[in-house]
Amino acid sequence: MDLEKALAELTLDEKAHLTAGADMWSTHAIARLDLPSIRVTDGPNGARGSSLLGVGDATAVCVPCGSALGATWNPSLIERIGVMLGQEARTKACRVLLAPTINLHRSPLGGRNFECYSEDPLLSGKIAAGFVRGVQSEGVATTAKHFVANDAEHERNTIDSVVDARTLREIYLVPFELAVKEGGTLGIMTAYNRLNGTFCSEDAWLLTRVLRDEWGFEGFVLTDWFSVGSTLDSARAGLDLQMPGPGRFFGAALAEAVRAGELDESIVTDQVARMLGVWKRLGALDDAIDSVRGSRQEQAERSIDLPTHRELAREVATDSMVLLKNEELLPLATAGLRRIALIGPNADRCHIMGGGSATLRAHYEVTPLEALRKRLGETVEITHERGCWTEKSVPPLHADSLMKPDASTGLEIAFFGNVDWQGEPVHLGSNRNGQILFFGPPGEGVPQDFSFRAVGTFTPTESGVHTFTLIQAGLARVQIDGDIVLDGIESPPGPGSAFFGMGSREIEAAVELLAGRPVELSIDFTCGSARLLRGVVVGHRPPLPEDMMQRAVAAAAAADVAVLVVGTNGDWETEGRDRESMQLPGEQDELIRRVCAANPRSVVCVNTGSPVAMDWCDQAAAILQIWFGGQEMADALVDVLLGSAEPGGRLPTTLPLREEHNPAFGNFAGENSELRYGEGLLVGYRWYSTRELPVRFPFGHGLSYSTFEIGIPRLSADAYCGDPISVAVPVTNTGLRRGCEVVQCYVAPKHPSLFRPSFELRAFAKLWLDPGETSDATFELGPRAFAHWDPADPGYELVRARLFAMAAMGPGAGSARRPEQGWYIDAGSYELRVGRSSADISHICVVSVPEEIGPIGA
Ligand code: BGC
Repeated sequence: MDLEKALAELTLDEKAHLTAGADMWSTHAIARLDLPSIRVTDGPNGARGSSLLGVGDATAVCVPCGSALGATWNPSLIERIGVMLGQEARTKACRVLLAPTINLHRSPLGGRNFECYSEDPLLSGKIAAGFVRGVQSEGVATTAKHFVANDAEHERNTIDSVVDARTLREIYLVPFELAVKEGGTLGIMTAYNRLNGTFCSEDAWLLTRVLRDEWGFEGFVLTDWFSVGSTLDSARAGLDLQMPGPGRFFGAALAEAVRAGELDESIVTDQVARMLGVWKRLGALDDAIDSVRGSRQEQAERSIDLPTHRELAREVATDSMVLLKNEELLPLATAGLRRIALIGPNADRCHIMGGGSATLRAHYEVTPLEALRKRLGETVEITHERGCWTEKSVPPLHADSLMKPDASTGLEIAFFGNVDWQGEPVHLGSNRNGQILFFGPPGEGVPQDFSFRAVGTFTPTESGVHTFTLIQAGLARVQIDGDIVLDGIESPPGPGSAFFGMGSREIEAAVELLAGRPVELSIDFTCGSARLLRGVVVGHRPPLPEDMMQRAVAAAAAADVAVLVVGTNGDWETEGRDRESMQLPGEQDELIRRVCAANPRSVVCVNTGSPVAMDWCDQAAAILQIWFGGQEMADALVDVLLGSAEPGGRLPTTLPLREEHNPAFGNFAGENSELRYGEGLLVGYRWYSTRELPVRFPFGHGLSYSTFEIGIPRLSADAYCGDPISVAVPVTNTGLRRGCEVVQCYVAPKHPSLFRPSFELRAFAKLWLDPGETSDATFELGPRAFAHWDPADPGYELVRARLFAMAAMGPGAGSARRPEQGWYIDAGSYELRVGRSSADISHICVVSVPEEIGPIGA
């Protein structure tokens, strides 16, 4: 397809048409010119296709969450993950993957921290660049998101992130800069929030000056979903595509603005040229015929569960697990092992991803309990106790307890073409569990306004008082054996925080049931005023034994080893809501303390996306951070526990001793519509180290099952004069097993002209070595390893004139001010601190900079 020709032939209305989505997940086609509709998919831990929140039939590979990928410190592995996700996106007929999420872990409480890689911009950016290269090698564009300073969820659609210029340049913009310059991302998604008073989707400084003029970005910029709120400002700022459709501010509105003489047509032409340019680079214009007129088959979403994808998901899960502490307990010696107590609320659950738009239906799910039993069940007795209840909202009725009238698992659903269950159903369907949600019409022939009745039996496994709950998007009631137990039609609950605020508050009812005796369950739903998302979550909590904790403690005491799997889930860590505390939910802290006291051979596996308080740290013999580890998490956990895999991860984010110590404390999660980045440059370890605050586990920390010696670094030069310095660090595996070491290089300026963090990560390399093997970790230190951004003070000369006017006061104290902003390298000496974590430095070398260098452009 000839792009120039197509652009010249497009009418103004057609061009404007292309600037807004056609529906939730695709752009418009222009059939007249064979221009295809392009489909997009979230992102970032899989390519889920057009379903949302785990709804729908299509399944997808689920890789570990962002913080886990960050913990690999392994951009080349993440590039392979990118290739896999690019392939997955194609199976969903998509040419754009809405990923990676590269905001930073500014506060440990950020609701979407699990999606983001790290607190450090370099680590985030290098991982992002690998991810982007991989995905895009499969003809799928990435949209690095959310540009920028979207590091919290509180009032996310309107909050104003107030960030100083230097902090933006040195910290928050860096991952995006690397995604553009080193990854070559073809897309950027703007953030919902404002940045210093201007909405990111209409910030010309951000989208044009920095992104395009300075970084040379040639791709397209799209909004986050529903976020754009202006036509002229956004178009002039450099935004190209409003998603989802139908367009309100873009689309026809742009053509009207051109006709009204408010906007130059060249702006619309540029928007379209940028998008078509990307589709062309992807090869997507060549499948125009398929996409515009293609058969249903070619457009259908496919779920392809490949063994090679399973293996890669497993490899990355083990490579992300961080062994925080190990008092000679791991790997578990299986010889003589008779009984393992597997304890904790997450041990028999699959908490493998965080909540929100990242949620998908994984190809399969395995619980830690199932994985351990499969591996050791024949030789070792595995007892299991949950110990306590931790769910934030009650989980949906489980498939195993539901039976349809035809005796298969789940619920049978009859859909009516009216809002009050009248007449014959217009469509029949089914659902596997108590979460029955629809984006758009639920089936063929079902109109926009519909009602449904879902029926089946529910068979409890315990006798006693069961709790049933209801969250509705629309209006619903639940009947058990003909009695209305939950009535959201007569007394609708107010709005809640579920489903990005589209769901109601959760209501609950207690019902006495007998174990093994089935009851008839019926759920009536009608749309009411709900539009985008419609349906219900009917939850169930069995009677909870009062002695849950005692049973867990007794099981631990009677076992050779206790394995605790504790943590949060996608309800506690989710898009749309920040966490309220670093504390593990429920009584898990108490459970861990008591289990560790009952059995000194206890390992605590922490199944979360972000840091949690570990006040019990001293009591546990071993601690393993396993994150939300994707579809292979449980088997990868067993690999690591038993030593068939190395725990390859290192902390991508500091685990603070106390929540109150964290850098954002006091400036999180914002007040009066403003989120002040008051800690400035001192994000993460920059804060703890510069302020000399103790931490629970430092940034970069993680133990191996082997031991390593980091030798003396060899530098290609001991002065930096503009050419990169090459560094080679010999590393020897001094242990008895193959394992990995991550060599980290932090740079500490000794004579900074402006305030600087005490040291910053400037390079890293991960090595896998056999016992006795030595190899070099190598990296280069270029200008940015030494530079800082100086916002300068171009107006100072005017101010200075006043000082001279006040003769008695002299020229005033103070240092030289640079008249021009940019990256500068101060003259003086710099320490290269080379080690295995930010707090474990093996060698310090000194590099000098004889003369100031700068400004070095952007
Ligand atoms: C999220 C984006 C996501 C989009 C589409 C938004 O709510 O912030 O990250 O890509 O929805 O699901």
